[in-house]
Amino acid sequence: MKKIAALFLSAVMVLSLGACQSKTTEASSNTDSTASTANEQSAETATLDTIKADGYITLATNAEFEPFEFKDGDGYMGIDIEISKKIAEKLGVELQVHDIAFDTVIAEVQSGKANFAAAGITVNEDRKKNVDFSETYFNANQSVIVLADSEIKVPADLSGKKVGVQQGTTGDVYCTNEDGTSEVTNIEVQRYNKGVDAVTDLINGRLDAVVIDDFPATKFVEKNSDKIQKLSDTLTVEEYAIAVKKGDTAMLQVINEVLKEMKDSGELQTVIDSYENVLVG
Ligand code: ARG
Repeated sequence: MKKIAALFLSAVMVLSLGACQSKTTEASSNTDSTASTANEQSAETATLDTIKADGYITLATNAEFEPFEFKDGDGYMGIDIEISKKIAEKLGVELQVHDIAFDTVIAEVQSGKANFAAAGITVNEDRKKNVDFSETYFNANQSVIVLADSEIKVPADLSGKKVGVQQGTTGDVYCTNEDGTSEVTNIEVQRYNKGVDAVTDLINGRLDAVVIDDFPATKFVEKNSDKIQKLSDTLTVEEYAIAVKKGDTAMLQVINEVLKEMKDSGELQTVIDSYENVLVG
């Protein structure tokens, strides 16, 4: 009896070994390029699988940018937060928010610590080297905020003036003339972690102007309309998109689907419009 069992066992072992071998042969008979594509794809799907298994997806943002992302008590609000919630919903998971300095948001995605970044991020060539971008979802400009009685009337007047920007933003790039394309040069730049601190310094007379994205600029002016104003001329034309780790096409596809659905249904516009009237802080 024992002998029969042993025989049976070894037969099973030989059979399964054979199965393993034939599998291996099958895989290695693939051409190299097909094999590597298959590997990449499974790595990407693995990201989505991990997200689903963990039950949450991680957003990197900087919640100092009303109306796109800002703190609301213990939670977060804003246009990007609403879009991010839809992305989480699509995957059937919770949204976890990593609220970090704006100039570290891209690195957070690159290192895989966050699954995506939504932070009113302007698409530019420099950033495209480090992350992949979704379809764009908002048209923006850099605006100039000055004191109500300022002698600065047009962007050219900023030359030789002390201007506050949020560190690492396109407003910072423009004012420092980092890429050599700025129309206004010779600006004395003061960098801040939070836009609100720059606006406070402007109101207190420590700055001549603040350069920041137009919608947040509008919010700052609405809150302090007796003290500050926005110039009607803007400095740049920009577009916002969501960033993912380079090559994470599975994540990108989910995000683009959500953006398309929100655009097509009119929901994105409804969300944007609803924040026209919300004023927090
Ligand atoms: N659009 C600008 C940029 O991409 C500023 C974005 C700042 N966003 C933020 N959440 N603080 O550089």
